[in-house]
Amino acid sequence: MPSEVLVVEGLNVWLSGKHVVKNVSFKVPDRTVFALMGPSGSGKSTLLRALNRLLDIYEEAEVRGRVLLEGVDIYSPGVDPIWVRRRVGMVFQHPNPFPHLSIYDNVAIGPRLNRMVKSKRELDELVRWALEKAYLWDEVKDRLHMPAAKLSGGQKQRLSIARALALKPRVLLMDEPTANLDPVATEKIEELIAELKREIPIILVTHSPEQAARVADYTAFLYYGELVEVGPTGKIFTQPENPLTERYLLRRI
Ligand SMILES: Nc1ncnc2c1ncn2[C@@H]1O[C@H](COP(=O)(O)OP(=O)(O)OP(=O)(O)O)[C@@H](O)[C@H]1O
Ligand SMILES: [Mg+2]
Repeated sequence: MPSEVLVVEGLNVWLSGKHVVKNVSFKVPDRTVFALMGPSGSGKSTLLRALNRLLDIYEEAEVRGRVLLEGVDIYSPGVDPIWVRRRVGMVFQHPNPFPHLSIYDNVAIGPRLNRMVKSKRELDELVRWALEKAYLWDEVKDRLHMPAAKLSGGQKQRLSIARALALKPRVLLMDEPTANLDPVATEKIEELIAELKREIPIILVTHSPEQAARVADYTAFLYYGELVEVGPTGKIFTQPENPLTERYLLRRI
């Protein structure tokens, strides 16, 4: 088995004919955090959505290139996009639990739909496991049947993470997961990321170089569709090779 869980080779995306991801290649080793930085409109979210075939649902999107998930090209014929989305979990900038569903049901819905469990007891165990992994269990264990809408912003984001984890993904994609959170809630999510990467790789889109420096093993810099630089985070921050990376880090872009 390759040590890289995800390998992206020559990936291109067009949205309504506009070339927004340009011949991008990179590799994500197992048990690492891979940060994706770049100015607004650079194509970070689009690139992320190409990695779990979420772009399939956009009529205006055209994707070319290869995305290998443990050696399997997720765009090869015969690969089911639903299978891909289960294996490649995603957490968005705006926490998106179903507000009227209970905390429990928000986590249970994916495993139920995918017939991952055979009994109520197994489901209870999986929900608890996912909530524990997302650092939420202790805060919600006595009110699992309360609507998710009543949670705080940070708790909702951790619930979104629990929901993704319940499907036992092989990779987790996070698109600016702390953009709407205060510093305390942000710190909690960053601690969680550091814990989760002991088991699965995480691709983290962030606007914050400080966040990338804190949590990422590798950092890539995307500039209007082109991956201008990628490497170990320490190297990107101390000896960037591309002047654009340096200007971005100094917040001159
Ligand atoms: N449906 C669409 N049709 C055409 N162009 C689009 C569409 N959606 C996004 N774009 C364009 O694609 C480019 C990349 O957008 P994307 O949202 O991926 O950037 P981003 O790096 O995630 O930005 P941000 O940091 O603001 O989230 C932008 O120029 C955007 O305007
Ligand atoms: Mg975005």
